[in-house]
Amino acid sequence: MLRRVYVWELPVRFYHWLNALVMVALVATGFYIADPLALQSQREATGKFTMGWIRYIHFAAAYLFFFNFLARIYWGFVGNKFANWKQFIPVSGTFFKEMWTVIKMDVLMMKNREHMSIGHNALAGFTYFLTFILFLIQCLTGFGLYAAMSDWWFPQLFAWVPALFGGDILTRQIHHWAMWFFILFVVIHIYLVFYHDYIEGRGEISSMGGGWKFIEEEAFEKEHTHTPNPE
Ligand code: HEM
Ligand code: HEM
Repeated sequence: MLRRVYVWELPVRFYHWLNALVMVALVATGFYIADPLALQSQREATGKFTMGWIRYIHFAAAYLFFFNFLARIYWGFVGNKFANWKQFIPVSGTFFKEMWTVIKMDVLMMKNREHMSIGHNALAGFTYFLTFILFLIQCLTGFGLYAAMSDWWFPQLFAWVPALFGGDILTRQIHHWAMWFFILFVVIHIYLVFYHDYIEGRGEISSMGGGWKFIEEEAFEKEHTHTPNPE
């Protein structure tokens, strides 16, 4: 028997897809900023603005990325238990135990079974935590670099960052290297989402669309007897 559980609330799904969209835009425009094409054109230099538009898209996406990230952190305090910050930060022995169980079952394949969690499994949650730390570094270095190019007060809040990271050149390098983490993350993440969808057959892929997952009755009961504050 499968039970339908509402796991990902609308703000989490909205965050997820806006984040995915702007991430693709930031990586694509970031590559261009790092290594621009030598565009061959007869036009007067004053009529060309390719790099300007690319940077404009990068910065517009950067603001969306930043405020969306802040909204997700807020939701980690007011959302349902699957969205809670405790799902990301190993705060208890049970968290570490579950991480080890997932490593044994899903990664090392030491047991011929799947670890069935309802929200994020502990290892996934911890990986998102590391990802969020890199989001923070990307925002710090990005807005730190941007401060010198903007008159608005908001980016000026980050004007101290390049000095902390050893100047503009190193800050830009760190910003560039961090991008590769996200590229790696996205490849593995999409693989794992499809893997879990197939292996578990509980609607993993569509859960980020409609919010629902299908959970075995026993797994649901086990989770609820272990959780002190079930919804
Ligand atoms: C640029 C592409 C993507 C990025 C940056 C990304 C990022 C993330 C992040 C940060 C989370 C944690 C969400 C939270 O709790 O707030 C997450 C979870 C999730 N994502 Fe993605 N995602 C991407 C693409 C996709 C795609 C294509 C799918 C396929 C449907 C997908 C399905 C899911 C699902 C089902 C979860 C929850 C499952 C779990 O806990 O492991 N994502 N994603
Ligand atoms: C996932 C998020 C992001 C990725 C993948 C990304 C990627 C990149 C890359 C690859 C570069 C080129 C660096 C180089 O020259 O080697 C770059 C430049 C830059 N990015 Fe980002 N970025 C992200 C977020 C942000 C954010 C949040 C801001 C905040 C405003 C930002 C502001 C900048 C600035 C100011 C530059 C330098 C532009 C220039 O000198 O013309 N980025 N980014």
